[in-house]
Order: sequence, then structure tokens, then C-alpha cells
Amino acid sequence: MTYLKLAVQKSGRLKEGSLSLLEKCGIRVSNGRDALKVKADNFPLEIFYLRNSDMPRYLQDGVVDIAVIGENLLVEKQSDVKILKRLGFSKCRLSIAVPSGFEYKGLSDLNNKRIATSYPNTLKTYLDSNSINCQIHTISGSVEIAPNIGLSDAVCDLVSSGNTLFTNGLKECELVLKSEAVLAANAELAEWKLKALDKLMFRMDTILNSRKRKYVLMNVPNEKIQSVSKILPVLKSPTVMPLAEPGWSSLHSVIEEDRFWDIIDELKNEGAEGILIAPIDKIVL
Ligand code: PRP
Repeated sequence: MTYLKLAVQKSGRLKEGSLSLLEKCGIRVSNGRDALKVKADNFPLEIFYLRNSDMPRYLQDGVVDIAVIGENLLVEKQSDVKILKRLGFSKCRLSIAVPSGFEYKGLSDLNNKRIATSYPNTLKTYLDSNSINCQIHTISGSVEIAPNIGLSDAVCDLVSSGNTLFTNGLKECELVLKSEAVLAANAELAEWKLKALDKLMFRMDTILNSRKRKYVLMNVPNEKIQSVSKILPVLKSPTVMPLAEPGWSSLHSVIEEDRFWDIIDELKNEGAEGILIAPIDKIVL
């Protein structure tokens, strides 16, 4: 049997989300202790647990076919790979930060400053495009400590909650790049691999679609079914079932989480009552 080779982080912030997505896709992986590659029990997939920094190269060279990887890393390594899908987890941003006492007024305040980062290429592209001239100090970790030990005037690093910046007395001043976990592929996959990939991506879509949407049920006076239905935009049309109480119906549909609060107000205004919202496990569109 031939297997599609998937790289996931051996350790790091993407690992848990990557394995949880596979599990939700119904792909069983017995995690052999310390194993660096494992075959899925029920899908033609072989999982490679790799160091984050090795993943772009292995993907580009075809050592692995696909990877769940941070977009930030692909941008930094200028990898010649295809981003197939944004996966909606491990969202973060690459930002420039300065000591909190620094009275930052704008990008030109960074001219001739020293900036410590593990993302020198991304930072250089950003500074060049804004005609700012800085000294970039490339360091491989613990970047936020650099200003405190006199190594730099500012840092450029990943920010998620902002805690690391805060505890090191730094404040964000410029957003360089937004990032999240993505599914990326080697640029030249064989035909049979593309077929296996289609199956995997179908499963991922089913999960990702359900994460963005909610199931909604409500009671509606019969004369309002038409106007309430128009507010519910996602699936073909809502399901309508008569209630025991004459003149009323129960209406079921799916709404996008992003529009949840706007839609709820509109529904109430149209006379909907007893609105229930429930999570969805999977959606096949
Ligand atoms: C990243 C980044 C910051 C920290 C920011 O490090 O380099 O240090 O997370 O997160 P926060 O805003 O939630 O505090 P990570 O833990 O991913 O490890 P790394 O040093 O290997 O990048």
C-alpha cells in the first residue's frame, strides 16, 4: 500500500491542533512512543513528526508530500510550496515591539535601530517596503529578552496572547504579518497522491465548515416564516415543523458564527422566540 506523507510538528504550538484535526477527520494514529514516523491505521497517510524549522525544506524537496505548518514559517523561508487551505487554528501575528517606555510615534522611529528577530527575511521585506533602514540581529529563540540585555532596541517576533511581550516590558507597535496553521503541499505531487489528498481535504472541509457554523432552532409565528427565513442565509432553506400550539412553527437552520449576533437581533425583531443555538460536529455541504 502507498501512503501520502504528512509532516506535523514534533513539538510546538501547532502539534496539538494538527493531531486533533486528524482525529476529527476520523484518521486514527497510534502514537508509538518516540516514533518519528507513524502510519495511520485507517487512511493511506504516513505521519512524520518533524522539527518546525525543517518542515519547509522537507516539503519543498518532496521528502514529505504535505504538511500542517505555520504560514509565517513558509513566508520566512520563501518556500516554493502550495498553500492548500487555511486551517483556522494557531492564529498569531509577527509584530515589531519596543520597550513599553519608548514613545513610539510611527515607523520612522525605527530608523537606524537594532531589531532582534528569528524572522530576518520577513522583517527585511517589510522594512524595505516601508523604506526603513535598521540593523537586523538574527537570533534563534528567546527574542523578547534582547532589549533587556542591551542586544537590541526592538524585537520582531510572534505574538499570540501578548503575555510574553508584556512580561518582558515590551509593547507591540507594528504588525508585520498575520499567520495561522495551513495545509501546504509539495508543488509537484503525483496523480495518485492528489487523489488521496482530495479525500483528506474533503474531510478537513467537513470539519472546518462545521467550526464556522452553528445550528439554530426557533419558534416563529406562521405568518413570519417567510420573513424570518430570508434572514437565515446558509443552507438551501430552513426546515419548518408545526408546533403543537396552533399558528406557530419550529424553524431549524444553520448560521455562520461570525454573523451570529447580527442575525439574532434581526430574528428577534421579526418575532422569533425561544431561540436555541447548538454546535455542529460535522457538515457536508
Ligand atoms: C512564541 C513566540 C513568543 C511567544 C508569544 O514562542 O516566539 O515567544 O510564542 O506568545 P504569547 O504572545 O502568547 O506570549 P513559542 O512558544 O511558539 O516558541 P518558540 O520560541 O520556539 O517560537
